[in-house]
Amino acid sequence: MSASQRYIRIDKNHGFKIREFESADLEKVVYINRVSLPENYSLRFFMEHHEKWPKAFLVAEVDGEVVGYVMCRVELGWGYCKPGLTRKGHVVSIAVLEGYRRRGIGKALMEEALKALSKYYKASEVYLEVRVSNYPAISLYEKLGFMKKRILKGYYLDGEDAYVMARPLPLE
Ligand code: ACO
Ligand code: ZN
Repeated sequence: MSASQRYIRIDKNHGFKIREFESADLEKVVYINRVSLPENYSLRFFMEHHEKWPKAFLVAEVDGEVVGYVMCRVELGWGYCKPGLTRKGHVVSIAVLEGYRRRGIGKALMEEALKALSKYYKASEVYLEVRVSNYPAISLYEKLGFMKKRILKGYYLDGEDAYVMARPLPLE
């Protein structure tokens, strides 16, 4: 596979590339998840998402090393943006290693995942849960057009509330 086929986006200014997750990335993605978030998952959980929704599980590389990921799933359910049975993309988890933040990697991962959810899985909206105290993530999602739709009281294991944030697709 040529480099231009393997990479979905190459950002020369900020020195990162986005591509689909591959099985060989599993250990690194699990590591990034564990050092970045209290919500941790089994290896099996990551691999299931890769097997079922490969186009919407992406990683970011800097100098050939994986430094961030976004993992999504697709669900059929009641819409947050429009009423009725809706195919919804669900951003399950996103994280960027601390030393690589604030250079656009999180935003690029989200934009490419949103495009994939709409293009390959025909999702007409996308949603996620986020801790009400997670200002960096909420700012990123608002920048991408997500709106707060509801509060889930005590959603997290430590008792913190979550916002459900959602936006319609496609992105543009
Ligand atoms: N403070 C304020 N605004 C921020 C911050 C921050 N610390 N970080 C990002 N933003 C906003 C800004 O508007 C920023 O644009 P700017 O830099 O031009 O001001 C915009 O988001 C884009 O930022 P990126 O550089 O693309 O984001 P980054 O690569 O730093 O990744 C992320 C953001 C993924 C939230 C990162 O901070 C992270 O890994 N945090 C820990 C893990 C986490 O909280 N993940 C989200 C949990 S919720 C879920 O997974 C569904
Ligand atoms: Zn979720």
